[in-house]
Amino acid sequence: MIKKIGLLTSGGDAPGMNAAIRAVVRMGSYLSIEVVGIRRGYLGMMEKDFSPLTVSSVADIIHRGGTILHTARAEGFLAETGKLKALANVKEEGIEGLVVIGGNGSLQGAEALTGLGLPTIGIPATIDNDISTTDYSIGFDTAVNTVIDAINKIRDTATSHERIFVLEVMGRHSGQIALMAGLAGGAESLFLPEKPITMEMVVEKIIRGCKRGKKHNIILVAEGSGSAFDISKIVEEQVGLETRVTILGHIQRGGTPSAFDRVLASRLGGRAMELLAEGKSGRMVGMVGCQIIDISLEAALSRKKNIDREMYRLADILSM
Ligand code: F6P
Repeated sequence: MIKKIGLLTSGGDAPGMNAAIRAVVRMGSYLSIEVVGIRRGYLGMMEKDFSPLTVSSVADIIHRGGTILHTARAEGFLAETGKLKALANVKEEGIEGLVVIGGNGSLQGAEALTGLGLPTIGIPATIDNDISTTDYSIGFDTAVNTVIDAINKIRDTATSHERIFVLEVMGRHSGQIALMAGLAGGAESLFLPEKPITMEMVVEKIIRGCKRGKKHNIILVAEGSGSAFDISKIVEEQVGLETRVTILGHIQRGGTPSAFDRVLASRLGGRAMELLAEGKSGRMVGMVGCQIIDISLEAALSRKKNIDREMYRLADILSM
């Protein structure tokens, strides 16, 4: 039975990471497994930036955004030498297992460490929600709610001035935030990397709406699916209405996690620790339907997450 494990957060931070840290540590205490916090992700693993986590050191963090363990995008860890150094450091510390909280790149690191003999469990946490075989990753729901709040505010000024707004949201290679926020916020057009649309379609829809007396139009652009400024310029030229651009940026990564993200993080964190205690390795926990599942990291990472085509169709129909 494992007695001591390491825990790290890696890649872009996501609201709810702290709730997951708390869950891992407290389930560890329940199962009599010591948890060592590895600060700054894989970078801290290579630099031996370790500090013990206790039941009381994770008190009062469930509601906080960001990550108390800090995070990094560690280029050096991609090299074999980086991984071996990290592995030697955890062995020296008596760490027998690892929980990694992060997105696709971080989970690839977790898979590599599993292959090198360190029992590792991954917890999906990224606002992008682009990890397959889990319906949700930690942080996505909070980010979508942040975007909705922004859309509500922009809608007020858009209506007052009868303007068109182009709003760029995060999601490096993923239209998940744009799609969910687009449906919930009633955006007229969505630019997603997974579902290209033409400017003709966008312009035609705005003109149709204007003829019915529509006073505002909101276009959501997922980062990476086109330039919000180029789109705005074309719309203004072809529709003849004033257009403004808002880039939401890193505002989407911060803030207190939603109830949904706290519950998800607590369930995934608790289950990750149970899996290590059961002697499992190379697994990713996730949520499918309302059930917490686990799947091999290899299988999860080899599949690409697609957008829900039906949801996209519905968003388009309802925003007529
Ligand atoms: O992966 C999460 C994410 O927020 C992406 O949506 C975005 O493209 C990227 O991180 C930004 O990364 P950084 O904070 O390193 O600029």
